[in-house]
Amino acid sequence: MAYNMIATKSGGPEVLQKNEFEITEPGAGEVLIRQTAIGVNFIDVYFRSGLYPWPVDNNLVLGSEAAGIIEAISPDVNGFSVGDRVVYTLPNNAYTTHRIIDAQHIILIPDGISDETAAASILKGLTTYYLLHNSFQLKVGNSVLFHAAAGGVGLIAGQWMKSLGINAIGTAGSDEKCKLAMEHGYAQMINYRDEDFVKRVRELTDGECVDVVYDSVGKDTYPGSLNCLKKFGTMVNFGQSSGPATDFKLADLAVGSYTVTRPILYHFTEDRSWLENATSSLFNLILKGDLNISINQRFPLDQVTDAHRMLEERKTTGCTILLP
Ligand SMILES: NC(=O)c1ccc[n+]([C@@H]2O[C@H](COP(=O)([O-])OP(=O)(O)OC[C@H]3O[C@@H](n4cnc5c(N)ncnc54)[C@H](OP(=O)(O)O)[C@@H]3O)[C@@H](O)[C@H]2O)c1
Repeated sequence: MAYNMIATKSGGPEVLQKNEFEITEPGAGEVLIRQTAIGVNFIDVYFRSGLYPWPVDNNLVLGSEAAGIIEAISPDVNGFSVGDRVVYTLPNNAYTTHRIIDAQHIILIPDGISDETAAASILKGLTTYYLLHNSFQLKVGNSVLFHAAAGGVGLIAGQWMKSLGINAIGTAGSDEKCKLAMEHGYAQMINYRDEDFVKRVRELTDGECVDVVYDSVGKDTYPGSLNCLKKFGTMVNFGQSSGPATDFKLADLAVGSYTVTRPILYHFTEDRSWLENATSSLFNLILKGDLNISINQRFPLDQVTDAHRMLEERKTTGCTILLP
């Protein structure tokens, strides 16, 4: 039986309902994937809650990363075959057992990487890639503050930065999370629920502050994040798990001639050569053993409401996946 998890109105996790559907044939340029693992991401919460725009017909299937096996393929698609294991990241429509998708979005999963690992890591791993290479070009010697370090993106970023020779400072919301993040590449951790992270960053850097802050928490951290920057430092705001930062003023940047950027993964992945290059870097790091994808929560697809509750209650660490 094919089914997806659909929402017809914005709201809490309970708006996600099971919906059976008939599988159809792929059209020109498309493949049919039987999905084997689906990643859960904070972006799913933004769409579900109505923070991000909804489709005009109000039928929203969430989910922006998944892996699976090609079951049918349009004759005009080159480079893929029935039976291939593939992965993709694209906004929405991934909370489903079967999906027809344009072949330009899919990537072959190499031997040695499981479907679960690919599904859990493609969105978060490519995000990490652009954060460290495009939004700010990290170099050995740069000082870094990375918020929500024990989360899905956070644990990947810690290991990736370590592989680049960066000693990053991280923040997380409990001592257990701080310990986990230290085991995943962070040199120093701050429990920002117990400690003033700005004061602690200044202490840890002997008052020098950091070259770059990666802030995906938003409302609760944003003013403090700017206060952690060196002159000419960069803040990369790439999310808002605590709510959007609403009181940003250009004049705030004049304090230290700061740069602020607000990137979105899908502006990078539109470029197929970027997508292939970044995915190959991600998979090579995993295959070399420098990057371990921690899947710390697994749920059946039709129990996705429980996954959303845990994520919003800050009870998850690392990656969460759904199993169709
Ligand atoms: N712009 C992009 O292209 C892009 C792409 C991917 C992800 N993102 C963003 O990156 C961030 C991380 O994504 P993820 O899927 O890996 O999520 P995650 O980090 O696993 O989960 C979010 C974490 O944010 C922290 N947090 C702080 N205040 C919170 C609050 N009031 N409510 C809920 N969580 C709060 C929690 O960690 P603590 O308890 O440790 O504080 C929580 O575990 C999200 O903001 C996401 O939107 C952006």
